[in-house]
Amino acid sequence: MLFKLLVILHTLGATVWTGGHLVLAVTVLPSALRKRDPEQIHAFEEKFEGFGLSALLLQVITGLWLTRIYFPSIQTFFAFESYLSTYIAVKLGLLLGTLALAIHARFFIIPNLTKETLNSLAYHIAGVTTLAVLFVVLGAGIRLGGLP
Ligand code: HEM
Repeated sequence: MLFKLLVILHTLGATVWTGGHLVLAVTVLPSALRKRDPEQIHAFEEKFEGFGLSALLLQVITGLWLTRIYFPSIQTFFAFESYLSTYIAVKLGLLLGTLALAIHARFFIIPNLTKETLNSLAYHIAGVTTLAVLFVVLGAGIRLGGLP
């Protein structure tokens, strides 16, 4: 039962994190770029930031918990004997990439966001959204016993 609950919470967190970034990248960002209006991004970030970061935290907690259920000992994880360890290791790599991009955007770009720096934020949003989609693809791959 715990395992099933963790998969449901993990999937729910994925809808928020990946869904939120897709809405930002596909609807808010193009409109902000067209109008050269950083305020539209600020307005979205203000509402989504807390909720989105809570979802990412939920992903990390439930993801590591699921990993611990699959690999009760750390040695079996690092033996890389099945696709499962590889997929989870790639997910941890995606997590590092996500954190690096998010921290850089949050502390170095968003505080000084102007019409001129809007493009560099656009690249960050595209990057974090791509990583968010890859998380879902790899997650589905785990459930499906590997891809393709
Ligand atoms: C934003 C980050 C993440 C997203 C959007 C995400 C998304 C997903 C999705 C959609 C699934 C498929 C669920 C299913 O139907 O079974 C999944 C599975 C899984 N994820 Fe993540 N994930 C994220 C982060 C992580 C992290 C950090 C870890 C841990 C290292 C992790 C470990 C796993 C594992 C072990 C499964 C397999 C669960 C199962 O048996 O189905 N995930 N993930």
